[in-house]
Amino acid sequence: MSGVNEIRSTFLDFFAKNGHEPVASSPLVPRNDPTLMFTNAGMVQFKNVFTGLEKRPYVRAATSQKCVRAGGKHNDLDNVGYTARHHTFFEMLGNFSFGDYFKDRAIELAWTLVTREFGLPKDKLLVTVYSEDEEAAALWKKIAGLGDDRIIRIATSDNFWAMGDTGPCGPCSEIFFDHGEGIPGGPPGSPDEDGDRFIEIWNLVFMQYEQVSKAERINLPRPSIDTGMGLERIAAVLQGVHNNYEIDLFRALIRASVEATGVPAEGAQTASHRIIADHLRASSFLIADGVLPSNEGRGYVLRRIMRRAMRHAHILGAADPLLHRLVPALVREMGQAYPELVRAESLITETLRLEETRFRRTLARGLGLLDEATQDLSAGGRLDGETAFRLYDTYGFPLDLTQDALKARGIAVDTDGFAVAMERQKAEARANWSGSGEAATETVWFALREKLGATEFLGYETETAEAVVTALVQDGRQVETLETGASGAVVLNQTPFYGESGGQVGDTGIMTGAGVRLRVTDTQKKADGVFIHIVTVEEGPVRLGDAVELSVDHDRRGRIRANHSATHLLHEALRTVLGTHVAQKGSLVSPDRLRFDISHPKPIVEPELDEVERLANAIILQDAPVTTRLMAVDDAIESGAMALFGEKYGDEVRVVAMGTALEGEKAGRAYSVELCGGTHVGRTGEIGLVHLVNEGAVSAGVRRVEALTGAAARQHLAEQERRLKDVAATLKVSVADVVERVATLVDDRRRLERELADARKKLAMGGGKAADAVREIGGVKFLARVAEGIAPKDLKGLVDETKKSLVSGVVVMVGVGEDGKAGVVVGVTDDLTSRISAVDLVRHASEALGGKGGGGRPDMAQAGGPDGTKANEAIAAVEAALSAS
Ligand code: SER
Repeated sequence: MSGVNEIRSTFLDFFAKNGHEPVASSPLVPRNDPTLMFTNAGMVQFKNVFTGLEKRPYVRAATSQKCVRAGGKHNDLDNVGYTARHHTFFEMLGNFSFGDYFKDRAIELAWTLVTREFGLPKDKLLVTVYSEDEEAAALWKKIAGLGDDRIIRIATSDNFWAMGDTGPCGPCSEIFFDHGEGIPGGPPGSPDEDGDRFIEIWNLVFMQYEQVSKAERINLPRPSIDTGMGLERIAAVLQGVHNNYEIDLFRALIRASVEATGVPAEGAQTASHRIIADHLRASSFLIADGVLPSNEGRGYVLRRIMRRAMRHAHILGAADPLLHRLVPALVREMGQAYPELVRAESLITETLRLEETRFRRTLARGLGLLDEATQDLSAGGRLDGETAFRLYDTYGFPLDLTQDALKARGIAVDTDGFAVAMERQKAEARANWSGSGEAATETVWFALREKLGATEFLGYETETAEAVVTALVQDGRQVETLETGASGAVVLNQTPFYGESGGQVGDTGIMTGAGVRLRVTDTQKKADGVFIHIVTVEEGPVRLGDAVELSVDHDRRGRIRANHSATHLLHEALRTVLGTHVAQKGSLVSPDRLRFDISHPKPIVEPELDEVERLANAIILQDAPVTTRLMAVDDAIESGAMALFGEKYGDEVRVVAMGTALEGEKAGRAYSVELCGGTHVGRTGEIGLVHLVNEGAVSAGVRRVEALTGAAARQHLAEQERRLKDVAATLKVSVADVVERVATLVDDRRRLERELADARKKLAMGGGKAADAVREIGGVKFLARVAEGIAPKDLKGLVDETKKSLVSGVVVMVGVGEDGKAGVVVGVTDDLTSRISAVDLVRHASEALGGKGGGGRPDMAQAGGPDGTKANEAIAAVEAALSAS
């Protein structure tokens, strides 16, 4: 008897042997289909290959595809645990031909695998074909040798498979296994076909068409094949059990749950154990693919699945959170086939533990309320919508959890009443924001938030995705189309574009569709989660409801991620070097550089900056993985994660950790741990290098550092080096000798300047023979000079010295600066000041120079004037004044 792992590899090996490329399962969040909530069939990842839009290097493929059918169009959630074959998560085995082989080879391969490799007896098998597909019926007859009684023609859509309202489709043919007469149920197409006797094990779809719209169906470029075989079903058949939950994989998971709770899987408890096992798989795989619990969209489907399982853990009487304790068993069973499960094991464990810890706080009280509200109800009764809403709103009970809780008692829930209560709450919220005085341009975002909910952000996992246009806004108003050349905002149901927040700038990139091309120049986040893409329409028009392919500017985003991660490293390094008073005051993470403001009272000096850089680069060199977890805000802060003071956080936060501290008290633990919604590198090595380029003041007590990473840092350093080399070349020394040479040059210059000043002074004093030029005016010794190139501040010293050498007399010095302006200083020896005032004399000089006034004392006064060419007139004016006195 084969185990699930063996069956899976037998399938993939068989098709590999027959020329098929084994392709890894695509993620549960479809990148290439905007209409799907989760990947729900093997062909989803190949949708565009069938239609010819995408080319792959192979024409045959085989996969084991992870699928989730919960939320969205296919929703099996309600049935899981109570039936033999419903799952929220399952694996679909499939082989595919993209325009290569068609019906005959597909039937031949399927028949060989089922009868030879799997060894199922031919007389236990029968097939269905689409009623009009005579060709398929003939092929089954020829290849499998089945008689007409075993080839059942089905006229309904059961045998015409379509991915959705649009997309690839075609007639299909299904293989059924007959569990034998002892089991109730009729063959397919019969009134009691839903019994357990005849079980469909494999669906072969003869992909021939593409449904482009409701009315139009076109041929695919070439007929193709898509097959799907539920792994759990075929395992049940091969293991001789009738219930999927009895296959080896589920038995192992249920055993773990039995051991952890001490409650055997018997009687009424069986369903709880099955639900736990199924939901454990769905939750873990969703978390591994980047979905985290939230209150909207995919995250809410995950939350519903998790909480449903958690209620059943409660029913089993689990004293502590249960689900996270079962993760090791799941990883043991499925980790080899799906390495992403191993990689995400700690994230899965922590996310489950957090959710269950929190939900248990309200679960018991909520169930108490539910009991109270339904005590008078009996089978056929209905719980009022108000109470269901209160359970949802206050106690965190998803509607389907309440329904599930009442199912055993045959009590329904008034879902209309629930919807009314929900609508009333929304109306209250609306009244709040419409009265909040937001600018009219902003109210459009609130309206969209309410109508559409938050945009699903896919950008942590991918930079490309498909999406549907859910709103177009131009000049603050919703519109139906944006024409070629127009600018506006586009809202989508999901997006890989990061909306500016937390200091990280918004993404840019391209949006394309049929005849549509938009350039996204920025992305913003509005009204609590509506992502708006600011676009210019290069080719249009783009219409509401259009499907578009999105592609974020990869190179730019890569640089942003490196800069964001580097910001976290610098933050921690700054705290280590400067002290824990350092708190983030603001940051800007752009593709070109990062800017980080911190509280710190004084300049950060060079050795400190150097140490900060060294510490941050040491973590980069570790090339350590960057991990993201979802945590309760209080727990995160308690565990030491850095949060921004005054920032508003939800109940749960993303916590980004990177590196291992090698020194200090945190040695051995995570180096940087921060609450952060931004996008980061996968490993610190991707940052390459961080280099601080600037440090300065922003305001009192706040310093700003700026840094570069990766190629930008390298380029900056290369430029600096080139400049240094240029300097060395100019100085004609080696780079190593530049510092010494420059120091010598500076010294030399200082010495030369001093010598020059002395020489000028000497020159101004008439080469030391001032006495020669002394004249007498009205019995007073008089000496005057025009001193070119002497700064006015130096004139006073000269005048003083000259006064001394005259012993008694009047001195006038006019200095003319390089700017052509003049300064004049007049000195009068003390014996003369009783009758001659320097202040009077300097005023005459100043007037001659085109200036006004001047000032000083009777023995020394100074003034200036704009016109240095009048220096001699100034001296003459003083002379005249002196002779008149
Ligand atoms: N797409 C088909 C299905 O989901 C066959 O793989 O059943």
